[in-house]
Amino acid sequence: MSITASRFYAFKTLKRIIYQGAYLHLVTRNINLNGRDRAFFKLLVNLVLKSGYKLFEKLSKEKLSNSEVIALMMALVELKILGKEKYIVFSQYKSIPEKDFSEKRFFKTLKKLENEKNLIENEISLPNFIINQIVDSKLDINSFTKNFVSTPMTGFFVLSHSKEILDLLNSLSGKLYPGRIFKNYYYTESFAEVLGILPKDCYIVISESSMLSVLLLEPKPGEKILEVGASPGGKSVFLEYVLKNYKDNLNKPKKVISVDISESRISALKKTCEKYKLKLINPTLYTKKTVFDVSDKILIDAPCSGLSTLDSKPDIIFHLKESDIKLLAKKQEDILNYYKDFIRVKGKLVYSVCTFTEMEGKGQIEKFLQKNKNFKTFEGVLSSKYINQDIIIKDGMLDIDWNALSLEPFFICCLEKVDE
Ligand SMILES: C[S@@+](CC[C@H](N)C(=O)[O-])C[C@H]1O[C@@H](n2cnc3c(N)ncnc32)[C@H](O)[C@@H]1O
Repeated sequence: MSITASRFYAFKTLKRIIYQGAYLHLVTRNINLNGRDRAFFKLLVNLVLKSGYKLFEKLSKEKLSNSEVIALMMALVELKILGKEKYIVFSQYKSIPEKDFSEKRFFKTLKKLENEKNLIENEISLPNFIINQIVDSKLDINSFTKNFVSTPMTGFFVLSHSKEILDLLNSLSGKLYPGRIFKNYYYTESFAEVLGILPKDCYIVISESSMLSVLLLEPKPGEKILEVGASPGGKSVFLEYVLKNYKDNLNKPKKVISVDISESRISALKKTCEKYKLKLINPTLYTKKTVFDVSDKILIDAPCSGLSTLDSKPDIIFHLKESDIKLLAKKQEDILNYYKDFIRVKGKLVYSVCTFTEMEGKGQIEKFLQKNKNFKTFEGVLSSKYINQDIIIKDGMLDIDWNALSLEPFFICCLEKVDE
């Protein structure tokens, strides 16, 4: 028997991610498998990435080729987490058509490891420095890792409320779960099916946590808004949606200056603008010569370690190095220091990162406030037509239990400039 297509795709994908640094969401975008095989492929890749880190460290010390390491991680996940019969797993992995794969070496190591306890568990297996970051940030590690070893559901926000779209959503109702915070937000396990039915520009795949930073900014028509770190534009789409839906007879929405430092990412933002027919977003490439007007509001979505998205992007475990966190924190500090000068007195600045490390979140803001006494944190209540319940803002931060709601625990903070 030769290895099944779903396992072989999973094997190739894992090899690219772990040894060549490819990104999960990019390599899996164009996988051509039918629904059932695709689901199994996704499950295997996710389980290996999420639960196999300790195993990977151990196997890396054995005299094995890259193909053998990957095949062993997959085989052990099938045996230990999925509880597959030994004969199925053994027959599947003996015929991997790769030059650096030896059936003999593979079986020798598999036999040696198959009875080893605690080698691969039905729970998160992370590099120590990431565990330390979770502990330091005071996130409850048990709830954080609770649903980690499952394939995440895809969440999307519906942008159109035409009768046609509402009818389509009704026809999909058995396949959709409601948003945890947002109205018009849905989760689905069968995204491919949902995708095939809904028109492409009527929804946006975005996390609920990500949308919260836009709400915290409270964008209003007539305001000058600067969006920093805008590409590929998930937040831009929601920002334009909020501005257009604002009932305001006095002010017309002004164009949002959506800045990014990367040329290729600005192209991605332009594509997003085309796809969603965005009229208010003005993609702007940052160069040393770019001059910005003083704005009423600034949203900074800074580059970060992305650890809050581990559930949907478990490949971060293999990409991120401990030293990267310090470099990213320095970048964020520079960005905050540069853009703070473009905000008017009584203007609002929202800083957000999709991570929970102290250094990139709370610590970063404390340092900023120490140096910039003319800024203070914002207190208030977020009550919006887009969310199910009011959210309190304490010390500039959203007072919500990210873990209990199974939301990605983003760090989002809102500051006000009190004087020059
Ligand atoms: C977290 S991503 C942004 C995601 C985006 N806001 C979205 O919702 O789709 C951070 C972005 O910041 C950009 N960036 C990094 N340094 C920057 C700088 N100094 N000025 C502007 N953008 C920057 C990166 O190129 C990257 O696209």
